[in-house]
Amino acid sequence: MRQLSERVFYTGVLNPNMRVFDVIMRTEYGTSYNSYAVRGSAATALVDGAHGRFAGQFLEELAQALGGAEPDYLIVNHTEPDHSGAIAELLRAYPGLTIVTNAVAAKYLAQIINRADLPLRIVKDGDTLSLGDRTLRFLHAPFLHWPDTMFTYLEEEATLFPCDFFGSHYCEPGILDTAVAYPAAYESARRYYFDCIFAPFLPFVRKGLAKLEALPLRLICPSHGPVLTETGRLAETIQLYQTWSEAVDLQAPQAKKIPLFYCTAYGNTRRIGEAVRDGIRAVLPAADVELFDLTFCPDMPAMQRRLNESDAFLLAALTINRDAVPPLWELLAGADAVNIAKRPCALFGSYGWSGEGFANLAQRLGMLKCKLFEPRCKVNFVPSEDELAAAKAFGEAFAQSL
Ligand code: FEO
Repeated sequence: MRQLSERVFYTGVLNPNMRVFDVIMRTEYGTSYNSYAVRGSAATALVDGAHGRFAGQFLEELAQALGGAEPDYLIVNHTEPDHSGAIAELLRAYPGLTIVTNAVAAKYLAQIINRADLPLRIVKDGDTLSLGDRTLRFLHAPFLHWPDTMFTYLEEEATLFPCDFFGSHYCEPGILDTAVAYPAAYESARRYYFDCIFAPFLPFVRKGLAKLEALPLRLICPSHGPVLTETGRLAETIQLYQTWSEAVDLQAPQAKKIPLFYCTAYGNTRRIGEAVRDGIRAVLPAADVELFDLTFCPDMPAMQRRLNESDAFLLAALTINRDAVPPLWELLAGADAVNIAKRPCALFGSYGWSGEGFANLAQRLGMLKCKLFEPRCKVNFVPSEDELAAAKAFGEAFAQSL
């Protein structure tokens, strides 16, 4: 337990050992499931819960922060189970608790806890809840990052509880941003978190930021990672979110980003990729056209970011065991499924026997609703000089189609 301000107490749980979140996020710095108690003169509210696996520890933190008192409200800003998993235990420990949340979250919560009789108070955008000498205001913030998300604002202390927004999968015992011992690691985790969680929802990020513009902010208490303070990284993080949420939409047409992602066992696919690249450059000399070998790529999240920020992209459909190879699938696992729809793309590469990688990747690109250029640049075994010339012509045709 840690007191963050006059009436705000940290009641979260640290999980420094987590290495994967939601199956697809690598979390080398662990995480924290942040929860907070706001103690007003007439009532106490908890903001955000914890992962079900840590329910016991969460209840201990809570009992310590409240000094034996019972909480009156649980504010559910978002129902993903890393925050809602411990609610069933919480309700058993405090049967008088009222859950305060929005209508969408209430619907999800009923299915997560499997109870039709949850003690709910539904709040609309802008509603307030009095805790006596403290007031909570609720600001709906859909798709940051689920349809259910809302922010909670403690008016008298200019403190924002934005759930995942401004968060990071990063864990240090100091809790505050001013106590972070490894700033570069935190900065990397903060960016990666934004890319994975919020990059698919950039228009909603901008709306969320706009909603906060008029609010004084002294403290931001996210549901993961360090608490952001005025003397620490509060202003910096807001500014970064503004920059990151604008960057992707402001690409100049003459500077198209067209990455080519490939793997190669014997160099054939790389040679084809180089010819395709040359063809694209011949048509679009100002474009940023670069080949990336995923086999030796130490930073897959950076590759996924390049994919998501591209204007168009190409994939090498190398085939092993009747399928495209794992690095290509891993790349696509990080595709921004919301915004990659209609993105122009193309397939190229060498194959040996039957080349199923092409069809399998094409099917996946279709599911992502990408705009796949046809025909595909498919070369059997080693590309001849004629085939390399054809690959260059393929690159030119693809560039002309953009
Ligand atoms: Fe931290 Fe979207 O849950």
